[in-house]
Amino acid sequence: MTKPDYDPEHLPSEPGFDTICQHLGEDRQAWGGGAAPPIYQNSTFCFPSCQAFEDRLRPGNQRFEYTRGANPTTAIVESKIAALEKGEWAWCFGSGMGAVSAAVNACIKTGDHIVSIARVYYPTRQFFSHIKRFGIETTYVPGVDVADFEAAFKPNTSVLYLESPSSGFGDCPPIAALCEAAHARGIRVILDNSWATPYFLRPLELGCDLVLHSATKFFGGHSDLVAGVVIGRDAELDAKVHTELRLIGSVLDPFAAWLMIRGLRTLPIRMEQHQASALSVAKFLSEHPQVERVYHPALPAHPHHEIAMQQLHGTSSLFCFTLKEQTKQAHYSVVDALKLFHIGVSWGGHESLALAADFFSIPPEETQWCIRIHVGLETPNDLIEDLKQALEKL
Ligand SMILES: Cc1ncc(COP(=O)(O)O)c(C=O)c1O
Repeated sequence: MTKPDYDPEHLPSEPGFDTICQHLGEDRQAWGGGAAPPIYQNSTFCFPSCQAFEDRLRPGNQRFEYTRGANPTTAIVESKIAALEKGEWAWCFGSGMGAVSAAVNACIKTGDHIVSIARVYYPTRQFFSHIKRFGIETTYVPGVDVADFEAAFKPNTSVLYLESPSSGFGDCPPIAALCEAAHARGIRVILDNSWATPYFLRPLELGCDLVLHSATKFFGGHSDLVAGVVIGRDAELDAKVHTELRLIGSVLDPFAAWLMIRGLRTLPIRMEQHQASALSVAKFLSEHPQVERVYHPALPAHPHHEIAMQQLHGTSSLFCFTLKEQTKQAHYSVVDALKLFHIGVSWGGHESLALAADFFSIPPEETQWCIRIHVGLETPNDLIEDLKQALEKL
């Protein structure tokens, strides 16, 4: 959905991040002065005449028709996210994977080639395998060297797919340099910004063509919705991404859009708290005798620390650490001994989560065990105490 062309809330010409979260896209007087917007829980929208129906899509006359295409509650959250990411438009999806598949599909045709970071979110890797039957091949590049990505580009490469930082190991490929290399060959760059959110990273400003999110994570923020969003600037991609939304139909329910509006209200203060708490936990772990290594991009020991600090305005809550005892049993026993951290997939919510898994392993490499944690909004000292007692049991 594009940015609103009127400003019922009298916002500054360039509203700040927090002001966008509280006000942009909202017209409170239009809904009886309610401080929170209504949930347009409609499938369909009615018209006063056949002519009004015929004219509905004329430029300047755009109005809502059917929620699989657009919905007023969803349009509020789309206008906020477009502005936060410094984009021209945003479209919401029924899940992060809905956003991933739509963004990629919008940029490829039969016989194309994709270049991706190697430690990409695993279902995204599965999606790349899934479209192999349409003649789409994918090359995975380990590490962050621009020359390695350039060597992987082929004449038929149409997409460079990035996460920076990636959600496991925290790989930080250099975004601006890779966009330059890709654009010189007519390749579009898609970046999954779920980890940093626009509060800490704005990839469109660094040259990316499309940014996407699992809004299930920090945008929702309360582990109570599943959603995705794709953001861009280019009008051609706007139309293509919207076509994927309408025809594949991974549409967001208006109630989930409303929950996302509510989640966005506190995104800045949650991200500040996640950052501070995760750093305290990461520092504690990096000094613990049973811990081999902590892979948090804000720590100087992280292999991509310098790149991370150049392109990020801050760091979030998800990172991995390895134990000196490199066995599955040791990693399982620490996670099983945790009391405050719950065991579960996903991240970005209010609650701390932990998983013992082989997140780092790039097939067909040997399995490397690690513990991945999402540092939630509990008192940081309580989380540190929990980790301390669990590590003592080793
Ligand atoms: C980095 C990343 N991208 C995309 C997704 C997919 O999002 P969803 O689960 O909302 O479909 C996830 C989910 O965990 C993720 O971690």
